Order: sequence, then C-alpha cells, then structure tokens
Amino acid sequence: MIGVFDSGLGGLTVLRELTQRFRHADFVYLADHAHVPYGNRPSDEIVDFTRDCVEDLFNRGARLALLGCNTATAVALRRLQQQWLPASKWAGTHNVLGIVAPTVEAATQTPWAVTSPQYPQKYNTDTIAVFGTTRTVTSGVYPEEIHKRCPKVTIVQQICSELAGAIENKLPETELEALVEEGCAAMLAQTQNMPPHRAILGCTHFPLVEHLFRRHLPPFTRILSQPDVVADSFEDYLVRRPHYLAGNEGGRLTLLTTGDAADVSAKARVFWPDVAPFAKV
Ligand code: DGL
Repeated sequence: MIGVFDSGLGGLTVLRELTQRFRHADFVYLADHAHVPYGNRPSDEIVDFTRDCVEDLFNRGARLALLGCNTATAVALRRLQQQWLPASKWAGTHNVLGIVAPTVEAATQTPWAVTSPQYPQKYNTDTIAVFGTTRTVTSGVYPEEIHKRCPKVTIVQQICSELAGAIENKLPETELEALVEEGCAAMLAQTQNMPPHRAILGCTHFPLVEHLFRRHLPPFTRILSQPDVVADSFEDYLVRRPHYLAGNEGGRLTLLTTGDAADVSAKARVFWPDVAPFAKV
C-alpha cells in the first residue's frame, strides 16, 4: 500500500495520476484539513504536522509515503528522511519521498540522483519560473535543486500566498483568476517581461487552476504538469523497488482527512467528480 499525503486536496492531483498508473496498487490518502493551508506556517509546525501524518500512514500499513505537497516536501522531507525515519521503528523498511526532485528532474531534463553540475546541458541557459507558497519559495529548495543540475539557469520565484487557501475554500473563479493574474504579473515584472521558458506550478493545488495560469502566462512559456512528472518518476522508483507493494493488493483507495469528512468529500468532487467519500481519521 502506498501512502500519499497533502495538507488538503491539492495532493489529489498527484494521487489521481498515480491511481491511473498503478491500477492494482492500494492507496491511502491523508489530507490534513485540520491545519490547511500549510503555506504560510512556521517551518517547525509543518515538520510536526507532516511527521504525524506520515506516522499515521505507516500505522495504517503503507510502507512508502509520498509527500504530495511541495510545502511539506520543501520544509520537512530532509528532516524526516535524515533524522526522524532512521531513528524510528520503520528504519530500513519504510521510506518517505517528495515531489520537488522529480519536478526539477523534468524541468532540467537531468536525473534526480545528480549531485554535481552536468555538462553539456541543453537547458542550461533557460529561465524557469517557480510559483509556490510562501514557505516553498522561502525554503529555496527549487533554486537549490535546479542549480545543482543546471548552474546557469535563471530562476524567478513567485510567492502566491493566498492561492492554495482560496482554491481549498472554493472561492469563485473570478477571485481565483485575480490571484493568478497578480502572481503572473509579479513574476513577469521580475523578468522585465521576458517570458520564461518553463513554469513550475510548485504547489499541488495550482494544477486545479492551470487554465488560469495558461491564460495569464505568455504563450511561449511551457507549464510543467507536476502530477504527470511525479507519476513518471514514482513509476520508475517502484519498478526498481517492487517490495513496497504487497502481492495481494487490489486497487483499493482509502481517502482520509483530519477535517470534516462530509465537507471535504463535497469539495473533492468539484475537481474529481467520481472520487470516493473521505472518512475522518
Ligand atoms: N498543496 C501544498 C503544496 O503543494 C500546500 C498548500 C498549502 O497548504 O498551503 O504546496
């Protein structure tokens, strides 16, 4: 069984893609609606909430947990992988993965295991825009990971501090569009209106308004689809480590929230019409 975690519903964009790729695998998704949004919270809180949710997923039988959340990946992944997991009872048998490295791999066309700059680099002189929550952007994880692979890439980061919460709270499309327009304009002001080559929607909630980003980004700018690239990378990982899946899995999907199950189920159906109902943990 695979565990997928997000602060709210954004991770469903990744989960949905994964369930289509791994039809026979069991998935458990946990959304921390008691604390969503994470994006403007202090780092220590994000680490604590994320760890609690990963523990919950492991206790339910998942041996691999994917943080389907850029903010949790940016702020908590290293601490969980390097400090918490090795000292836990799950050391050696379980693992936690994030979604930043696969995204950077796709954005730079450079494998995620790379630790030193790669030459020659086809995309080395491009400009990449990264849209994210406050905490994802201030963590600096995207520039760090991109520059490890392509040191000369120009990166423009843009905080969209209200957007994930607005999507989660189902604000009207006009209000969501105003936030997206504002974010795109601020990003373009940073590049003096030079269109970036690629844009990373570095928050799992943002694919839900990708059509609005498309409307307000220059036509030249390619938007990277994070659910797709994460699923590609995860598939590659699982093919090489099939022991994370049990032999008797049957394509079961369990959806859990720390918030109000009825409310969350209704919101989830807005963008995944036939999604199963959530249960409260
Ligand atoms: N969906 C999350 C992300 O990818 C976090 C949004 C939030 O809770 O602020 O960053």
